[in-house]
Amino acid sequence: MGHMLHPRPLIRASRITARCRQLGRQIAGDYAGQHPLVVPLLGGAFCFVADLARAIPLHGLELRFASASSYGAGTVTSGQVAVDAIPECRDRQVLVVDDILDTGRTLRAVELALRAAGAAEVRACVLLDKPTRREVPIQAQYVGFTIPNRFVVGYGLDYDGRYRHLPDVCTIDEE
Ligand code: XMP
Repeated sequence: MGHMLHPRPLIRASRITARCRQLGRQIAGDYAGQHPLVVPLLGGAFCFVADLARAIPLHGLELRFASASSYGAGTVTSGQVAVDAIPECRDRQVLVVDDILDTGRTLRAVELALRAAGAAEVRACVLLDKPTRREVPIQAQYVGFTIPNRFVVGYGLDYDGRYRHLPDVCTIDEE
């Protein structure tokens, strides 16, 4: 194993849980009586959507996974976004769920793909927002936490496949 990085908690699991409950209630209220299609982006959103979706008491909710990848094995964006498995979404109100909104390239690529597939409306819910890094003018309607420009791991976020399982969102200091 190579050098060890030391994750330090930035947002503790208990705060994440509480925020997911708030967001879930808000989303349920905003989509009351409707049947949104929730589209989490794998793999980073896997923890977030598990907690968020269970906090949205909406009967008509449908959930189908898609995936997008912009980062290679590191912490620097490649600028390329690969979008896979866009679900059938013609005339649907789609809520994209992602772990973090950073440059905005991923969300833009996913939104374009959903609109090209006929989505009537596309909103986004992200656990984390790093607004200072934005390269594309895009916002998420639902944001869990706004964070400074630090690379974070845990609660689904990885560094080359590692740290996804950490319960807290942590910063890692690169040597
Ligand atoms: P963009 O730049 O397209 O980035 O908005 C969104 C995707 O980039 C990844 N990302 C991170 N992953 N720690 C991570 O583990 C970070 O600090 C980070 N910042 C961006 C992430 O996959 C996200 O979906």
